[in-house]
Amino acid sequence: MSIAYYEQDRFFHLKNEHFSYCMRVDDHGHLWHLYYGAPIGLTGAEPLVNYQKHTSFWSVLPGEPNSIDTVPLEYPGSGTADLRPCALTTVDAGFDGVTDLRFDSYEILAGKPHIDGLPQVYLNEGEIAETLKITLKDSVKELYADLYYTLFGFSGALSRFTVIRNGGHSTVRLQKAMTATLSFGDKDFELIHLHGAWGREFELERTPLTKSVQTISSFRGSSSHTANPFAALVRPDTTEDSGEAYGMSIIYSSNFEIETETDTFDCVRVNIGINERGFEWTLNPGESFTTPEAIFVYSANGLTAMSQTYQKLYQNNLIRGYWRDRLRPVLLNSWEGVSFHFDGEKMRSMARASARMGVDLFVVDDGWFGLRDNDHCALGDWVPNEPKLGGTLGELVKYVNDLGMDFGLWFEPEMISEDSDLYRAHPGWAIKVPNRAASLGRHQMILDLTRADVREYIVSAVTGVLRSANIVYVKWDMNRNMSEIGSEQLPGERNGEFFHRYILGLYEVLERITTEFPHILFESCSGGGGRFDPGMAYYMPQNWTSDNTDAIARLHIQYGCSMVYPPSLMTCHVSKVPNGRTKRVVPFETRANVAMQGSFGYEFDPSLLTDEQIELIHEEIKEYKQYADLVLHGRFYRLVSPFTTDACAFETVAEDKSVAIATYVFTAGVAMTSRRRLRLKGLDADAVYTETHSGQTYSGSFLMNAGILLPAQRFDFDSVRYIFERRS
Ligand code: DGJ
Repeated sequence: MSIAYYEQDRFFHLKNEHFSYCMRVDDHGHLWHLYYGAPIGLTGAEPLVNYQKHTSFWSVLPGEPNSIDTVPLEYPGSGTADLRPCALTTVDAGFDGVTDLRFDSYEILAGKPHIDGLPQVYLNEGEIAETLKITLKDSVKELYADLYYTLFGFSGALSRFTVIRNGGHSTVRLQKAMTATLSFGDKDFELIHLHGAWGREFELERTPLTKSVQTISSFRGSSSHTANPFAALVRPDTTEDSGEAYGMSIIYSSNFEIETETDTFDCVRVNIGINERGFEWTLNPGESFTTPEAIFVYSANGLTAMSQTYQKLYQNNLIRGYWRDRLRPVLLNSWEGVSFHFDGEKMRSMARASARMGVDLFVVDDGWFGLRDNDHCALGDWVPNEPKLGGTLGELVKYVNDLGMDFGLWFEPEMISEDSDLYRAHPGWAIKVPNRAASLGRHQMILDLTRADVREYIVSAVTGVLRSANIVYVKWDMNRNMSEIGSEQLPGERNGEFFHRYILGLYEVLERITTEFPHILFESCSGGGGRFDPGMAYYMPQNWTSDNTDAIARLHIQYGCSMVYPPSLMTCHVSKVPNGRTKRVVPFETRANVAMQGSFGYEFDPSLLTDEQIELIHEEIKEYKQYADLVLHGRFYRLVSPFTTDACAFETVAEDKSVAIATYVFTAGVAMTSRRRLRLKGLDADAVYTETHSGQTYSGSFLMNAGILLPAQRFDFDSVRYIFERRS
C-alpha cells in the first residue's frame, strides 16, 4: 500500500495489490483524474494524459490551452466552462455562482481521520491505513474542498469523503456537495443497481450505460426501498467470477444520488453523494461541511470478489460493538402471527410455544404501548399498555425469561400519530409546513429530529422503557417517506438543510442510545428494507430485509442484498403459508433453507403449531445453530441467479475452506428436464469433502468443476441444502 507524489509531473499514485488510482495537477491547477483500475507501475502522469480535442463550442479560459469541459476533473466545481454534472455548486451573497477549484496543497496522513457525527468505516486495533488529503481552493470565494482518500492495509476498498470549508469573509450557500467523482475514459460499461419497492427490495437491474445522464437516487428522506445507495459499473462481459467491476456504496441513510453521465467524447463521469434535490447548506465564514463517506471497490475478477470485499469490510469495520462477531439469537417475532391483535395470554401462549421450538429470543412487535390496537394511533406514547399485556412489561419479560428465552421489543421512535398524547401536547414536533395540510403515511407523521428537544424526548422515552425491564433486543422501525418538509425551528431560508439535519439528528440519537445499552442487539427496519444501508449498519448490526417473507420472493431480495451487505446484517424469517404478501405456498423445508442465508428466525403464531411441527422446528434450529457461525461469517458465493434462471443457489465457505454449506432452490416447475448439477465455488480443489447428510465423498475439484448431481424436482419450490466437510 503506498501513496506517492511525483513532484515533476505533480502526479499522485495511490496503489495497493488490488488497484492503482492516479491523478495529476496541470499547469493551471486543475486536478485531473487519470486512472482507477488494476495496479500499474507508473511514476509520471504523461502516459495517462489524454487531451480531448475541443471545437468552437467548448469555452476556454484566457491563458489556458484547452476547455475544462473536456478534462476529467477529479472534483468538478460548477458555473465554469465545465458544463457536465458537477460535484460542488456554491453561491454567495453577491450571486456569484462560480466554483472554480484549483489545487492548493496535499498531505499524507497515517491512519484514517474520524468523521464527526456520521457513520463511517473504522480501523480495528493493529489495522493500518493511509490517507491522502488533497485541498482544492476557489480563490475568489476562499472556499476549500479537502478531498480524503483512504487506502487500507487489509482491504481492497477505497474510502472517500470531502470537507468543504469557508475560509472567506462572506457566507456561501452549498447547493450541491457530493462526496466524490469518478471518471472513466470510455463508456464500455453496464450499470448495476438495486431498485425496488416495499416488499420487493434489492431488485437487481443490469442495463447498458446510455449516452445521457442516468441517476440512481432517493428523495424519500431515507435511503428507501426504491433505490439502495449502491451502484456498480461493470464491463459487458463481467460475470460473477471474471471481468472488471467498480462498486460504489454510500454510508448514508437519507437522500442520496449516484449520477452517471456519458459525455460527447464517450467518457463517463460519476458523481456520488447526497442528493442535490432538496439539499442546501449555509456555510458561514469559518464553518465547514462534511459529506458522507463513499466506499469504492474495484474488482478485476468479477462481482463475487467485489461483493466479498464489501461484505468483509462492512462486517469487520463498519458494524460495531458487542454483537458484531457474535452468533445472533434465533428469534420469534410476533408481527406476522398476530399483528396488533393480542392480549397478555396470547403473548404468553406464543412465548410458551416459542420456548418449545427452541428459540433464543421472543420479540413483541407493534401494539404493546399506548392505545395502539391499529396503525392509526399512539405512536410517540411509549408507555406499556398494561391492561393489554395482562400486567406490567417487566412481568411479561420475566415470564419469557422464566421460559428460558430473552426478550425483545419493537419501537418506532421517529414517528408521531395525530391521535396520540404526544401530538396533543406537542403538535409543533411533527414535520409540517405552516398553513398547509401534511400528508399522512400509514396514518402517521414524522417527528422533527432537527430539534434538540425532540431528540431529547426520543432518547428519554426509549431508554426509559429499556431501563424498566430486561430487554436485550430492539427492533427500530420507520414506516413512511417524508413529505411537506418543514420545521418550526429551522428558519425558512435554511429549510433546504432539513433532510441532512434530520439524519444527523437520528445518528446522534442512535449513538447515544446504543452507547448507553452496548449489550442490546439493535435491528434496523423501515417497513423491511426501506433503510437497509451502510449508515444504519454502523449503529445496528441487523436489518429486517423485507416485509415480504415469501421464500421465493426472498431469494431475489436476498440475492440482490448480497451484492453489498454481509449475511449477518440480513435478517430472514420463516413465516406461514399461504404467504400474506404473495399467497404462495412454499414447502416448510424450503422456507427454512432460504431463511438460513442470514440471521435466522420465525414470524408466525407458534401457539397454532402441532407437536409434530414444533419438533421439526426444534431440529431445524439445532441444525442452523450448528452452522450459524459459517452462515454469518463465511465467504458468500452467488451460484445461480433467480433473476435470470428458474432456480437460485448460494453457498458459504469457511475462510479455511474446511466446510461449506450450499443451497439450491427450484423456483419454477419445468417438465421433462434432466437432473441438473450444481457447481460449487471456493473449495480446496485437492481436498476430499464429505456431504454430511448422504455420507458421500467428493473431491473439491469435482464439486467445483463437474458439480454435484441435484435430485429431480419433487414438487413446486423444492430445495436442497448440502453441507460439505473436508476430511482431515
Ligand atoms: C413494519 C415492519 O417492517 C414490520 O415487520 C412490523 O414491525 C410492522 N412495521 C409493525 O407495525
